[in-house]
Amino acid sequence: MYDATMAPPVTDVNESTRAATEDAVLNPRFYTTDFAELDRLDVSALREQWDELVAEFRRDPNKDHFKRTPEFEAFDWTGWDPELRKAFVEFLVSSVTAEFSGCILYAEVKKRVRNKDIRDLFGFMSRDEGRHAGFINHTLNDFDVAVDLSFLTKAKKYTFFKPKYIYYATYLSEKIGYARYITIFRQLEKHPEFRFHPIFKWFENWCNDEFRHGEAFAVLMRANPHTLEGFNKVWIRFFLLAVFATMYVRDHARTTFFHALGFDVDDFDRKVIRLTNEIAKQVFPVTIDVDNPRFWALLERMHRNMGTIAAADAAGGLGGKVRGTLARLDNGLTFLRLMLLPARHDRLPANVRLQPVW
Ligand SMILES: [Fe+2]
Ligand SMILES: [Fe+2]
Repeated sequence: MYDATMAPPVTDVNESTRAATEDAVLNPRFYTTDFAELDRLDVSALREQWDELVAEFRRDPNKDHFKRTPEFEAFDWTGWDPELRKAFVEFLVSSVTAEFSGCILYAEVKKRVRNKDIRDLFGFMSRDEGRHAGFINHTLNDFDVAVDLSFLTKAKKYTFFKPKYIYYATYLSEKIGYARYITIFRQLEKHPEFRFHPIFKWFENWCNDEFRHGEAFAVLMRANPHTLEGFNKVWIRFFLLAVFATMYVRDHARTTFFHALGFDVDDFDRKVIRLTNEIAKQVFPVTIDVDNPRFWALLERMHRNMGTIAAADAAGGLGGKVRGTLARLDNGLTFLRLMLLPARHDRLPANVRLQPVW
């Protein structure tokens, strides 16, 4: 399908499109998978829940939500601190890339499979993510830095993931997306003085879409329990830790954005990780013991290593190379230590479905 070698050279695009095209370790990626295997998925074990969920998607509760109001047009950022402008644009670029990555993966699944259940679901999810991406990009446009999404489709590299890895990774990114959006929304509900842009008012209904997308993957996995058994439990822990560690490290490098929202970045990440881990018990028989202080200490160690790597790369020379390599090795070991921490094992609830009540 998408052949990375056919990607056009990155020229004549703006800075945010270039940033969105980069495949650094921590940036949102684009995925492709084995569509034939997705075609063979069977949801009949949970037919009732599945049909109910697809009917909810079909009703499209957020159809009229993503409309710009005059307050967007009237919004003026000219007096902003340039640091905040930069941080906000970075946040929007990484969000639009993540939303758009979902949009094209889901659209591709719909196009490539014949299984009606899967086609319907992925068509609806792609519709939602396209809407989300468009809405964010419109705001980027207000800052004169819209991302060229059609360019991105061609220029970005696609990472191949086996279907089960797609389920784990996508389930988690939907649920953590929900947790992030709702945590920001609740904070600004309490402290409207930190609402520095109108887009945050849209987050409540928005995150319900993400929650619903996560529900779809939860039902899909619970209807196909082999995805949750045996050695797959090790993969599940791997993905939980990878998603949590990536978010922790990225957010801790973006404190300007979180401070502007009135958050302590540590508090924010702890809340979001705890909530996502709690929600994940609907589908994952194994989760992270977030009450273990060593878990948080190891995340902090990875964050500090990232600081060392950045400083070492900037310093250059042999000394910089050595320090950077040591810190990278230490991050690999730290992740291994995270994998070796005792996990939580819970019995899966009889009813897989959850409501977004947070
Ligand atoms: Fe989305
Ligand atoms: Fe989503």
